[in-house]
Amino acid sequence: MSQNLQSVRGTHDLIGSTVKRYRYVVETARALAARYGFEELKTPIFETSAVFSRTLGDASDIVTKEMYTFTDKGGDMLSLRPEGTAGAMRAYIEHGLQRQLPIKWFYEGPMFRYERPQKGRYRQFYQIGAELLGPEGGDADVELISLAQNLLEALGVSTSSRLEINSIGDKESRDVYRARLVEYYKKHESSLSDDSRRRLAVNPLRILDSKDAKDIAINEGAPRLLDDLNELSRTQFDRIQKSLGDLGITYSVNERLVRGLDYYSHLVFEYRTNALGSQDAILSGGRYDGLCEMMGGSRTAAVGWAAGVERLSLLMLEDPLAVRPVALIPVGEKAERECVRLAHDLRGRGFHIELSYSGNMSNRMKKAVARSAKAAVIIGDQELANRVVTLKQLDTGEQSQVAQSELPAKLAELFGK
Ligand code: HAM
Repeated sequence: MSQNLQSVRGTHDLIGSTVKRYRYVVETARALAARYGFEELKTPIFETSAVFSRTLGDASDIVTKEMYTFTDKGGDMLSLRPEGTAGAMRAYIEHGLQRQLPIKWFYEGPMFRYERPQKGRYRQFYQIGAELLGPEGGDADVELISLAQNLLEALGVSTSSRLEINSIGDKESRDVYRARLVEYYKKHESSLSDDSRRRLAVNPLRILDSKDAKDIAINEGAPRLLDDLNELSRTQFDRIQKSLGDLGITYSVNERLVRGLDYYSHLVFEYRTNALGSQDAILSGGRYDGLCEMMGGSRTAAVGWAAGVERLSLLMLEDPLAVRPVALIPVGEKAERECVRLAHDLRGRGFHIELSYSGNMSNRMKKAVARSAKAAVIIGDQELANRVVTLKQLDTGEQSQVAQSELPAKLAELFGK
């Protein structure tokens, strides 16, 4: 007997309320980003592997462990995109868009990472993201955070998340810091977790955000990156903090926030939550002034962020797109025909109508309640003869006869339109 085919581990279907939430998050973000002047960008979901391996860092978890990489029939090494920033920069360079700076891009779509699946962590997941190319650090960074903050507020998840920011300096100041850090960790090497001991050789900064208790204790005494910041990083970071204050955006400086990707410099930030267990990052980003050069283009300052749509959806309490229908209930054949006409008319006026044809009255009413209808409109022979309908408000049980011609206005009033 053949076995049932199943979805791949770590992937999921968007069905019912999940797809509604997905759409709501994406549409809210797209509309808000447009208000900030961002235009939509669509890049392919796969790229030459080098687009990612050269930019995210040889030692990053994504490149070493998580990429879906394959050789296609022509022998090219390709990867499903694990994130959107490298592809956006590849497109910027490929289309020679330097003269159009500043460029503001919004994107949404699936990303792929071979991670261990758990709540809020998938192998195919969806991101929304925003990238701003051109302006140097400072006000542009604040504009990006302002967009993120307004988005989280619009989705009703700002109270369950907090903003953490840090500056990781430019490459030179980070090299100085890395040397100091390695020296410190070497003294404690035998007490570090296995993972961190491995990281010490390849990516020591990542030890700073380790969640292992042994590492946390050692990190307490680690040298501070903020002490090694160069002048430029320091002035940018001060200005950003003052502006966030002006905007009334609450944040905290987390000196251990380093982010896992190589392309960052200066500002990095993350909105985190306590509501999703260990998958606590819901929106993350930072400045990546060096990325364009890393990819063979000319130096272009840039800043951006991306957020996991599933994680945002999980934090949203209510189904935001839940529309409450009106149940239209005909009794008798003549009324059925009349209801088809009436449904056509009311739907044309923007009402969500559920037309119920069969079953006894009590079953039909139960179905209307189960579909969370706001009202039931009942039409039988008597109503037809008098050109009225019976309107029952399902939240209050209140029932009245309404002239057919008055029905649209009455429903509009009920829905607060
Ligand atoms: P990231 O921190 O790797 O950054 O991912 C951004 C967001 O994607 C995370 O905060 C999280 O909400 C979500 N996410 C990441 N991995 C998963 C997963 N396996 N399952 C579900 N959600 C996930 C970036 O991708 C950068 N490109 C952000 C950026 C844009 N920096 C500058 N511009």
